[in-house]
Amino acid sequence: MTRGKVDALLGIVFGDEGKGKVVDVFTPKYDIVARFAGGPNAGHTIIFEGKKFVLRSIPSGIFAENKLNIIGNGCVIAPDLFMQEARELETAGYDLKNRLHISKRAHLILPTHRVLDRALEAAKGKNKVGTTGKGIGPTYSEKASRTGLRVGDLLENFEEKYRTLKARHEETLRQLHYTDYDITEEERLWLEGVAYMRQFSLVDTEIEINRALREGKNVLAEGAQGTMLDIDHGTYPFVSSSNTVCGGVCTGLGVPPSAIGEVFGIFKAYSTRVGSGPFPVELFDETGDRIREIGHEYGAVTGRNRRCGWVDLVALKYAIMVNGVTQLIMMKGDVLDTFPTIRACVAYQKDGEVTTDMPFDTEGWTAVYKDLPGWQTDLTHLTSEADFPQAFKDYIAFLERELETPITIVSVGPDRAQTISLK
Ligand code: IMP
Repeated sequence: MTRGKVDALLGIVFGDEGKGKVVDVFTPKYDIVARFAGGPNAGHTIIFEGKKFVLRSIPSGIFAENKLNIIGNGCVIAPDLFMQEARELETAGYDLKNRLHISKRAHLILPTHRVLDRALEAAKGKNKVGTTGKGIGPTYSEKASRTGLRVGDLLENFEEKYRTLKARHEETLRQLHYTDYDITEEERLWLEGVAYMRQFSLVDTEIEINRALREGKNVLAEGAQGTMLDIDHGTYPFVSSSNTVCGGVCTGLGVPPSAIGEVFGIFKAYSTRVGSGPFPVELFDETGDRIREIGHEYGAVTGRNRRCGWVDLVALKYAIMVNGVTQLIMMKGDVLDTFPTIRACVAYQKDGEVTTDMPFDTEGWTAVYKDLPGWQTDLTHLTSEADFPQAFKDYIAFLERELETPITIVSVGPDRAQTISLK
């Protein structure tokens, strides 16, 4: 029997590329959909049949019947937020308990991790990361320092382990002089979430996934955030705390590199970033505001304004390299429908130096642009490549040439139906 493969679907810039929608479209081709990194800092929006769902921890394969969904060991999970998210889906008629398995090795986000997230951000003053406030950094820090609690801990002696860790967090918060907080209600919900989570299959998902691969089943690894937010390869320290790149699929699901098949890299026809940190393509003018407004670029988790700019080929080339992207998926082409000129950042410049390689620190670098004619046509009603206006075809061909990677899917609207395969 031929072994199955793990295909990866990764955001390759700053997240918010629309992974949820594509996973949902791809799911019928796979047996398992698995999240391998991140936690409720993600907000994967899926719209179909007039209904909108925002998934945070649950894989976007949950809407398809007969598919197994897995929250892998590389993820962090907050029981209260998980309960809220899962109950919304249950109320909408989706059966979760039989189709969602959670790794015993995934780490738990405690209410006090969230307080620590706020306290550490406050202590940073001007250098705030602008986190989502979901306790991501403190939870992954604790994983690395080997003091965290894992989902498997819910099954034995949990209350005592919880009290010990919470006391340690309270001590740290006192040392940070951050004492003005009250988590009474949050903790009540969190403990309710713990009881709720125990009703799920809390299992050794790495064994389950590898067994499935041996049986010839295929897995879709659903990324969270994006390459530029990766703890190693992103714009450190303005990053999230996990490996969002393809290497994170192996560590975050417990699968060998040889099991990786296609690596789909998702990007938008323009760029966005939420939170602080350098962003060489950022537009501070009316064009940036127009992209934000037309593209509804407001955070799915925090509601914050997303910073907007033109597409960034320096970042994309770097991401394609570190992830080994085999196919590109371009989202939200329709957002640029009304612009007479489309710009693409082809290099960065600083103090007379020009580079096409991602610098160690992108602070102070500005974009060098190439201008291309806009298509000025409504793309949202198009259903096939044959109907694309020539200028849009040219934009795609330009990106493929520059990035040396084929664009195989373009999305021209939020609905499942507005997803067009090329070639
Ligand atoms: P954290 O992951 O909450 O620690 O946030 C770290 C940085 O990553 C902040 O700049 C966030 O705005 C950003 N971030 C985290 N998750 C997402 C996401 O799903 N989409 C876009 N940005 C994100």
